Amino acid sequence: MTRDGAKGKVVIVTGSNRGIGYKIASLFFERGAKVVLNGRDAERLEKARMNLDPEGSRTLAVQGDVSNPEDVSRLIRETVGKFGGIDVLVCNAGMMMRGRFEDLVPQVVDGIIRTNILGAVLPIIEALPEIKKRKGSIELISSLAAVRGMPYINLYCASKMALTAIAQSLWVELSGTGVHLGILYVGITENDPDKLLYAADGSRIQVHPPLHSTQEDVARAVYRQVRLRRRKTVMTLAGKLLAAMQWLMPGVLTFFMAKLQRISARFAR
Ligand SMILES: NC(=O)c1ccc[n+]([C@@H]2O[C@H](COP(=O)([O-])OP(=O)(O)OC[C@H]3O[C@@H](n4cnc5c(N)ncnc54)[C@H](OP(=O)(O)O)[C@@H]3O)[C@@H](O)[C@H]2O)c1
Repeated sequence: MTRDGAKGKVVIVTGSNRGIGYKIASLFFERGAKVVLNGRDAERLEKARMNLDPEGSRTLAVQGDVSNPEDVSRLIRETVGKFGGIDVLVCNAGMMMRGRFEDLVPQVVDGIIRTNILGAVLPIIEALPEIKKRKGSIELISSLAAVRGMPYINLYCASKMALTAIAQSLWVELSGTGVHLGILYVGITENDPDKLLYAADGSRIQVHPPLHSTQEDVARAVYRQVRLRRRKTVMTLAGKLLAAMQWLMPGVLTFFMAKLQRISARFAR
C-alpha cells in the first residue's frame, strides 16, 4: 500500500462522524484522498472534520440521514459541487440491535431496515452516475452477521444479508461499466467507548463484545479492497471458519447454535 495511493480521489464515507467510518475516512485522507464525512449529529460531524483536516481544503462534512432521499441528494450534490466528481462511495452507516425476535418493536424494525438497507441503496443510486464517469468503486460494509443468521441479532443479520443480494445483483448489472463493487464482511470490532446498541424494545444498551478486529483493521481492509478492486472479503479467522461451516454443514451449525442458546441468551439483554 503506497502512502499516497488515493491521491486526488474523491471518497464519500457515510456514517463517518465516529467509529469505523471515521477510521476509514482518516485512512483515505492519509493516503491523499479528498474525503466527504457524513452523519446525522452535526456537532460530532464538524468535530470529526476539524480533527481530520483543520484547514478543510481536502474534506467536506455533509450532515444528513442516509435513509432520507433529500439528504442523500444533497450529499452527492455538495460533493460534486466542491470536488467535481466521485471516485469511491463507502456505504458504512449502520445501526445494530440485540434482542429476541419476538420482542422487536416497530421503531427498531423500521430503524434497522431504513438505516442498513435504504441507507446503502439510496446513496448508491444517487452516486452511480458520477462513479461510472470515473470507473470508481462502491464499498458495502457488511458483517459476519450476513454470513449466517444468528440468534439475538436476527434483524441485523437480515439487513446485512440484503447487502449481499444487492452486491450479487450489481456485479452483473455493472459488468462492462468499469465500476468496482466490493463487500466486506466485518468481524466483531472495537467500538467507540460511548456506543450504545438498540435492544429489541427500543431501549439503549451497552455493548461489550469480545474483540476480533480494531477499527484500523477494518479501515485497512476497505482500503485494500478498493485498491485491488476485490469483490469480497470475509474478515478474521473466526469469520472464515463460520463461512466454511455455513457452506459445508449449515445443519451442524444450527445444531451447535441451538446447544449454545443458553450462553447466547445472556447477550439478548
Ligand atoms: N462494530 C462492530 O463490531 C461491527 C461489526 C460488523 C460490522 N459493522 C458495521 O460497520 C459499520 C460501522 O459500525 P460502527 O461500529 O462504527 O458503528 P457506530 O459507532 O454506531 O457508528 C455508526 C455511524 O453511522 C452513522 N449513522 C447511523 N445511522 C445513520 C443514518 N441514518 N444516516 C447517516 N449516518 C448514520 C452514525 O452517526 P450519527 O449517529 O450521527 O448519524 C455513526 O457515524 C456499520 O455498518 C456496522 O453494521 C460493525
